[in-house]
Amino acid sequence: MSSRFAVIGNPIEHSKSPIIHHAFATQMGIEVDYGRVLSPLDRFVETVQTMRLEGYRGANVTVPFKLEAFNLANQLTERAHDAGAVNTLVFYENGIAGDNTDGIGLVRDIQQNLKIDIKDKRVLLIGAGGAAEGVLHPVLEQQPKLLVITNRTLDKALNMVKKVEDKESLRFVSVNAHAFEDIASHSFDIVINATSSGLSDSELPLPPSIFAQQALAYDMMYGRETPFIRFAKRHGAGLVADGLGMLVEQAAEAFYLWHGVMPKTAPVIASLRS
Ligand code: ATR
Repeated sequence: MSSRFAVIGNPIEHSKSPIIHHAFATQMGIEVDYGRVLSPLDRFVETVQTMRLEGYRGANVTVPFKLEAFNLANQLTERAHDAGAVNTLVFYENGIAGDNTDGIGLVRDIQQNLKIDIKDKRVLLIGAGGAAEGVLHPVLEQQPKLLVITNRTLDKALNMVKKVEDKESLRFVSVNAHAFEDIASHSFDIVINATSSGLSDSELPLPPSIFAQQALAYDMMYGRETPFIRFAKRHGAGLVADGLGMLVEQAAEAFYLWHGVMPKTAPVIASLRS
């Protein structure tokens, strides 16, 4: 009998997660039934409880429910705790475990797929919302030389820095927050756009000098060329990437949690791109 999983979100109809998980399952010779569940905005907890009664074994959680999933889980991994959000749930008879695979997904896409080491690099993280919080610790664990967080609302970036400063194991990395206009004198080897500005096709008011020679410009959005990617191409980034690889990598880590085997991601990324 195949085991049941789904991605929960609102909206959810465009999610590629079912395609990705079924591709992994075929590759590994496992039977998996992975669907999409549209949860009403005010009914996330009830939606999860119903799924448990229906025999689902776990779920991925996407916008806008990652914080509610964090609050619902009665057991959290350290990385879910660090992210303050949950994107993967495992249902047990006696409770729900919550994990966050987004950060490791980004790190693997940059390091294994794009073959760029984060260690000793100067990294700029743009954004201070849920997406940025979700990747901050895993990026810092790779020991960049410097990480600057910049955000339209500077206070949110300053709060992220403060949280990191409270964490003993990350004290050795230099982490700062600056307003967009105050990063003009810096250049970075890796620039990650974790804002949702691409959704509205908005330009970010970034100084054009931020890209060091051969810099990677990474947009966590996927599916179309964002103004950030166009800006990066115009202003000297050596390599640009969208978030499709991250999407597949975070799915692979969730697949591993549920099934105990790690699928190959490269063929799935290639097939989604084609
Ligand atoms: P997500 O879960 O996608 O991170 P979020 O928590 O609402 O969503 O955060 C959205 C992020 O994108 C924030 O950093 C937001 O900046 P503010 O904190 O100033 O709101 C950023 N953002 C969204 N649209 C933007 C725009 N047009 N220009 C600059 N930043 C933008």
